[in-house]
Amino acid sequence: MDDKITVINHPLIQHKLTLMRRRQTSTAKFRSLMSEVALLLGYEVTRELPLEMQTIETPLTEMEAPHLVGKKLVIVPILRAGIGLVDSLLHLAPSARVGHIGLYRDPETLEPVEYYLKVPEKMHDRDVIVVDPMLATGNSAAEAVARIKEFNPRSIKFLCLLAAPEGVDHFNDVHPDVPMYTAAVDEKLNEKGYIIPGLGDAGDRLYGTK
Ligand code: URA
Repeated sequence: MDDKITVINHPLIQHKLTLMRRRQTSTAKFRSLMSEVALLLGYEVTRELPLEMQTIETPLTEMEAPHLVGKKLVIVPILRAGIGLVDSLLHLAPSARVGHIGLYRDPETLEPVEYYLKVPEKMHDRDVIVVDPMLATGNSAAEAVARIKEFNPRSIKFLCLLAAPEGVDHFNDVHPDVPMYTAAVDEKLNEKGYIIPGLGDAGDRLYGTK
């Protein structure tokens, strides 16, 4: 498992994730914790963005200084829970573009069904981070990444908060070339496709819809 997914086990992330898992955590608190965790995860996920040297002037002298190279980063949340990770990533990369992909899980088959897709122009020159808090069966994430690959971006990464081993295996089988990042890999999926022990339905907990 370890070689398929990068688990970012910083103590602040682990502590905040525990608070998110607790049944008693309110919607407002859950939402702010997700933003805090996303900021910490985002720091690691963006670690390898390519840099080039640029000549700049400080108030004292000229220097060669590193600068992100290429077109703006693209964050693609899988609707709707993925939205909960976007603001923090935009704090880290304020000029990033945001694409959206809408997929819902058919409750019978657990297969993803696409209902919305919008991404920026000139994707071939961009690095993309596809985000969804929960990597459960991996079907939605694998489908979302397959659709984004059709635009030939320079690179793609997948970021989630929590993963199930089944989802990690499935995603890795379909996209062995796409690095995955998470805060934790839990024990298993239940028969309804929920991550155990997990944190429940991330969308419902974010938006208070249950
Ligand atoms: N989606 C969720 O929000 N939670 C799960 O446990 C699985 C999928």
